Amino acid sequence: MTGVPPLVDGFGRIHTDLRISVTDRCNLRCTYCMPLEAVFKPREELLTFEEIARVADVAARLGIRTLRLTGGEPLLRRDLPKLVRQLVAVPGIDEVAVTTNGLLLAEQAAGLRDAGLARLNVSLDSLGEAGFERIARRPGLDRVLAGLEAAKRQGFPEIRINAVSIRGLTEADILPLTRFCRREGFHLRFIEFMPLDAEEAWDPSQVLSGAEVRRLLEREIGPLVAERTDDPGQPAIDYRWVDGGRVGFINAVTRPFCDRCDRLRLTADGQVRNCLFSTVEWDARRLLRSGGDDEALTTLIRDCVAAKRAAHGIDTPAFERPARAMYQIGG
Ligand code: 5AD
Ligand code: SF4
Repeated sequence: MTGVPPLVDGFGRIHTDLRISVTDRCNLRCTYCMPLEAVFKPREELLTFEEIARVADVAARLGIRTLRLTGGEPLLRRDLPKLVRQLVAVPGIDEVAVTTNGLLLAEQAAGLRDAGLARLNVSLDSLGEAGFERIARRPGLDRVLAGLEAAKRQGFPEIRINAVSIRGLTEADILPLTRFCRREGFHLRFIEFMPLDAEEAWDPSQVLSGAEVRRLLEREIGPLVAERTDDPGQPAIDYRWVDGGRVGFINAVTRPFCDRCDRLRLTADGQVRNCLFSTVEWDARRLLRSGGDDEALTTLIRDCVAAKRAAHGIDTPAFERPARAMYQIGG
């Protein structure tokens, strides 16, 4: 769109991606994200679909092009396909994606595809029921696998699997997961464990680096060739095996990609954040519910972007954990 300056921050980063959390609830209790006994936001504090669409609409006019729905577990939000349909119709939006744990995907894959959902990211850390339950602290592996099957049948292109790597917890799952994804044609990405777990157990010693995982894969499966990317905001480094299959690494802790970050976040309770690790938020819900107009919303989003810091600084002594955990922010 002509005439409207892009969402650029003080470091020249242009923002084109908005992650929208639609609920803080979840049907799993992954150790790296949720507390076992979670307290959720009351319903009236969650943005309605109309409110979410309004933020998306204003954001799209400022240059946001991709929307990613997250949670908590987004498929727990009633009528999610209806929201997808509303967001796909927002002028300027090129792609709407969902990141899900897959438990409800078998039931919802067709509805989501019909609604125009372009892409699916499924979180899966282990292919063994025991390993799955050790990490997710609830059963559900068979349902995730059924969900993946359904997603494939619906013809979703390039289904991605996100696996968090934690030293002392996930090592044994790396090879089985990789072989499974290669065989099934899923694009697997290993994500380094970030200090966003609700129980605040994160410790640098638990970060199993992407480089270590890659060395294991090369040793056990075969040499990897780095792929070139045409998307500068892409946090993952992807590789290919010469005989087929891809795998990627999101080395958020050991190789921060903050200098290329093009993301903004909207929490389920309507707070705009410029970083996963923000300690400040911009209250879009209050603005929406007090009759704020599009111009006020534009200013709020621009202010949030302008205040973005250069980097999350996990690797620095001054690092301060955000007050909210992953399920309250949205991956
Ligand atoms: N560190 C790294 N990744 C995390 N995720 C959730 N919590 C963490 C964490 N503490 C991942 C989930 C999901 C994605 C949205 O974020 O596995 O795939
Ligand atoms: Fe639920 Fe996802 Fe958090 Fe696991 S990572 S508890 S699946 S929101």
